[in-house]
Amino acid sequence: MPDRVTEPSDPRPLAAGVSAGASAGASAAPAVEFNDVQIAYGKFIAVHNFSLSIEKGSFVTLLGPSGCGKTTLLRAVAGLVGISSGQIAIGGRRIDDVPIYKRNIGLVFQNYALFPHKTVFDNVAFGLKYHNVPKADIAPRVARALEMVRLAGSERKLPSQLSGGQQQRIALARAIVFEPEVLLLDEPLSALDANMREEMRVEIKKIQKQTGITAIFVTHDQEEALSMSDRIVVMSAGKAEQIGSPTDVYDRPATTFVADFLGKANLLAATVKDRDAGGVSVTLSTGQTVRVATDRQVAAGDKVSVVVRPQKLAVGSELPNRLSGRVLSTSYLGSRIIYEIDLGQGSIIRANVAVVTEPVREGETIEVGFDPADCVLL
Ligand SMILES: Nc1ncnc2c1ncn2[C@@H]1O[C@H](COP(=O)(O)OP(=O)(O)O)[C@@H](O)[C@H]1O
Ligand SMILES: [Mg+2]
Repeated sequence: MPDRVTEPSDPRPLAAGVSAGASAGASAAPAVEFNDVQIAYGKFIAVHNFSLSIEKGSFVTLLGPSGCGKTTLLRAVAGLVGISSGQIAIGGRRIDDVPIYKRNIGLVFQNYALFPHKTVFDNVAFGLKYHNVPKADIAPRVARALEMVRLAGSERKLPSQLSGGQQQRIALARAIVFEPEVLLLDEPLSALDANMREEMRVEIKKIQKQTGITAIFVTHDQEEALSMSDRIVVMSAGKAEQIGSPTDVYDRPATTFVADFLGKANLLAATVKDRDAGGVSVTLSTGQTVRVATDRQVAAGDKVSVVVRPQKLAVGSELPNRLSGRVLSTSYLGSRIIYEIDLGQGSIIRANVAVVTEPVREGETIEVGFDPADCVLL
């Protein structure tokens, strides 16, 4: 039996799987489980000590910059790349025990990889024919998948007669027509223009909810990750930096990498002054003192970073933590203004504030404040 899962560069469609075999695990088992997985290409280790448990029916995103190992992890789940140590289980079954053609996995990649000379129907039905689906079931299943991606009636069209977004929806239909246990999506939106991307985010999320399919989504786009995911794995250099809900990773970043990668946080170098029940006071490198609400155990003299999101800063406010500096640039956006502010000592911050007064002009002095609860100590 030929492999059903193929390389992205392969002209054959990428959807894979049959309904038998791979779904034999206990129903309480996680949909996908990585246990201390390491993946190497020759001597280069692309993924280190990666552990993650994915609940059935959930939408999990691997988020990180190019080269951090996202695609490698998806390829490992699909069986396109071997792991050098650790285990991966799908539905409680170790994948080493399941031949690739029996893994019940749907795949969607950035480049749609549709057959250009086949109709939409044949593109979606292609894999079904190879998966011993009774002939009489093929047309209804294709119709259902096309309905799901809102392209019912396009059966006779060629991919070239469809927009980029529509082609990607056909690729999605082709991946879900199998009713796979797990759907792997590798940057499926990055080839689309901005408007189409936002529309497809909503679309993919809807289909995932409707079908109850477990999805592993890969992206380098933080907005995509925040808006679509139940859980996000923020990755850097082959490692998981933090695993949590969108609000966990955004509001409570565990590392400066996560703070910076998600939404360009302001990182202020500081030294701990003292602590009390509610938090700590720190002295910034500019000499200003601010308070941070935290239960982190730190001692006077410790070097720390205070992380504040640009949207958490307000102008001329009565908030307890105030920073003053010189405006380097003012970007008026209608309802918001983004200021770049020089606090001195090489410390530059961004503030994204609501428009309440006339914009402060470049070169002028500005005072911004933030709440001790609206920042994180790292
Ligand atoms: N076939 C390969 N041979 C050697 N190195 C590879 C191969 N594929 C990927 N890599 C390297 O592994 C790392 C992770 O790659 P990849 O998983 O594609 O990252 P991402 O999808 O996050 O951009 C990168 O440094 C990349 O250069
Ligand atoms: Mg990739």
